[in-house]
Amino acid sequence: MNVCPVTTIDFNAIKNLTCDEMIAVDKLILATLSSKVELVNKIGCYIISNGGKRLRPLLLLLTANALGGINECHITMATVVEFLHTASLLHDDVIDEASLRRGRESANLVWGNAASVLVGDFLYANAFQMMTRTGDVQVMDLVSQTVSTLTEGEVLQLINCHNPDTTEAQYLEVISCKTAILFRTAAHLAALISDATPEQTQGLINYGLALGMAFQLIDDALDYTSNVAELGKNLGNDLTEGKTTLPLIYAMQYARPDEAHIIAEAIKKGSADAFQQVHEIVIKTDAIAYTFQRAEEQAEKAIAALVCLSDSVYKDALIDLARFSVQRSY
Ligand code: FPP
Ligand code: MG
Repeated sequence: MNVCPVTTIDFNAIKNLTCDEMIAVDKLILATLSSKVELVNKIGCYIISNGGKRLRPLLLLLTANALGGINECHITMATVVEFLHTASLLHDDVIDEASLRRGRESANLVWGNAASVLVGDFLYANAFQMMTRTGDVQVMDLVSQTVSTLTEGEVLQLINCHNPDTTEAQYLEVISCKTAILFRTAAHLAALISDATPEQTQGLINYGLALGMAFQLIDDALDYTSNVAELGKNLGNDLTEGKTTLPLIYAMQYARPDEAHIIAEAIKKGSADAFQQVHEIVIKTDAIAYTFQRAEEQAEKAIAALVCLSDSVYKDALIDLARFSVQRSY
């Protein structure tokens, strides 16, 4: 048997490559977060400085470095991307009625839905204000389109919620719109700002999209397999929210009819009551292994797209980032 050793990816080693630039991003985040309304500062700082992975700005910075170097505009847009992501999480936790985010009580639980939505709006507006400083119409157009797609993804998800007949294709469409698009845009922005060639730009768009798909596929697998301490979110959230994610779609297809019925009813009901039973069926049918396999395919697709870049430590880091997106446990 051909046993291929899997190298463990060190995420900190990837991050260390853009350490100085990330400090500049963090400084800009803090400077931009200042509002004359104390509660805005409080909630903004609470969500943005509590240990997110900063994956999207990292992607933008690594890509820019792989294309030849970083300028002010890259730093600005890396910050914009993190602001948009954070704004979307504030809104998402209200929509999903989440209680835990990044290992702490979610902002909606601490300050309520209204304050969370409004501070999300504040971050979103600040992101757009910051973006206008680039004066680049292509950049502004891309970011505006991205937020439209993000929102469409969330609405599509809402339509599919509590529907056990959601197909794999419908699920993939949702995760492409709600998650992968922002990864795609981070890489695309770096290409635009760096005046990359059309081939490089297309390659990086493909890389970002596939990376984002891998990331969300694993997110949906971890919702059944991780633990609260490591994930910083409650397990089984997706089932409670009635989300028909890939582990459930696959499990319903390969489980016995009575087991598929248990899952379908749990999705319709949207409750944690049947989590243990559903979890057992998901594991028994190898639905997690299947989800990982699909994520690995996306990661390999992302890596293949990097043929557009010449060799560098940054290209290697982008390759590692794709592998990390599948290996991660948090
Ligand atoms: C998390 O998904 C949510 C997203 C990836 C996107 C949320 C987007 C919006 C609410 C649209 C509004 C956008 C802006 C910029 C204001 P998840 O619920 O599967 O992940 P989770 O388990 O981390 O909550
Ligand atoms: Mg959520």
